[in-house]
Amino acid sequence: MQILPLNEVPQFAEQITDWLWQAFGAGTTREFYASIVQSSLNGADFPVTFVALDAGRAVGTVGFWRCDLISRQDLYPWLAALYIDENARGQGVSQALQQHVIHYARQRGYNRLWLWSTFAGYYERFGWQFAGEALEYPHTRVRLYQKKLS
Ligand SMILES: CC(C)(COP(=O)(O)OP(=O)(O)OC[C@H]1O[C@@H](n2cnc3c(N)ncnc32)[C@H](O)[C@@H]1OP(=O)(O)O)[C@@H](O)C(=O)NCCC(=O)NCCS
Repeated sequence: MQILPLNEVPQFAEQITDWLWQAFGAGTTREFYASIVQSSLNGADFPVTFVALDAGRAVGTVGFWRCDLISRQDLYPWLAALYIDENARGQGVSQALQQHVIHYARQRGYNRLWLWSTFAGYYERFGWQFAGEALEYPHTRVRLYQKKLS
């Protein structure tokens, strides 16, 4: 398996947009996710979209974002929009993508990385520390996690 930034394999942008819209898009449009994915293709520091490839096929994605929770703009950067293709789940792709973003953030000098989730017990397995509850716009209670990188 190989993990590449999307701007090196932009042919997977539509696939990733569909994944994110289907997984996280309740109440919003495909265009919203298309905008996020497209904005990761212009070479800016944020956002960066990574793609996991297996035999030339996209099997998962993760983002490195400036902001993933507008109620907590004091916190950055974020591991966000983690998604594994249904046929590729349970094979370590999620852990590999998490590790990739952790390494990427560390290489850029960040000493902490954040994520939020609606479910408990998963990220703890990979050493993420629960850091309390937070609010996803407008009123969804979520679990905040941090990873110390240094
Ligand atoms: C969450 C996700 C990335 C995990 O990928 P994966 O390849 O299945 O991950 P792993 O093999 O490391 O772990 C599988 C475990 O995660 C658990 N898990 C997956 N989604 C879960 C959820 N929504 N709630 C609780 N546990 C969950 C599975 O039950 C499984 O547990 P088990 O090992 O005890 O059987 C994948 O299921 C996915 O893409 N889901 C849809 C998008 C999503 O929810 N992303 C995370 C946003 S925070």
